[in-house]
Amino acid sequence: MFSQCTQKHDENQTGQSISQKSDFGGYESQVKWGEHLVTIAGCNDCHTPKKMTAHGPDLDSALLLSGHQSQMPVPDVSREEMESKGLVVTNDLTSWVGPWGISFSANLTSDPTGIGNWEESNFIRALKEGKYKGQETGRTLLPPMPWTMYKYMSDDEMKAIFAYLKSTKPISNVVPQAEPPAVAHN
Ligand code: HEC
Repeated sequence: MFSQCTQKHDENQTGQSISQKSDFGGYESQVKWGEHLVTIAGCNDCHTPKKMTAHGPDLDSALLLSGHQSQMPVPDVSREEMESKGLVVTNDLTSWVGPWGISFSANLTSDPTGIGNWEESNFIRALKEGKYKGQETGRTLLPPMPWTMYKYMSDDEMKAIFAYLKSTKPISNVVPQAEPPAVAHN
């Protein structure tokens, strides 16, 4: 009886150590797992500026995850027409003119102009509740940030992503404020 109990306990311990390893999704560290999740969730598509190559636009690895560059112009279009027709236009997927106004992909690097001063809880709130800067009173994040899908990530996945973002090269870049729809100004 007693030995059975001990055996069970051992099994549990073994089970636990296996699940601890898989806490990192099979990766050697939380940061590596986070990097993998950022890659497959396509965060770079919108949060990394592009550079032109022979094969078309590609991620500018020197500016990885630093968001819409502050000096970069937004697409020059008739916003009234875009809004009335419900169209969306973008340049390199970092600024977006649409019926919601203009949104700019955030700087997600470890710099203070990115998520350098964020707590893990801010990051989780931003992804789960779509709150700007992860603040309780923050405005709702604008399209096309797909937080309504990312909110289904597990807390462990979000924490791994945050750990990776905190480990990124800091890039100083103050992303412009989002703008409301042009038509609402009339
Ligand atoms: C389709 C484009 C797109 C994709 C893909 C995307 N984002 Fe975003 N993201 C944006 C835009 C645009 C904003 C700015 C929204 C706003 O200002 O309301 C944003 C904002 C954010 C914010 C809020 C920043 C702040 O200052 O409040 C966080 C955090 C964030 N994204 C993280 C991520 C992560 C992590 C991923 C990948 C798992 C990701 N995003 C993928 C477009 C995208």
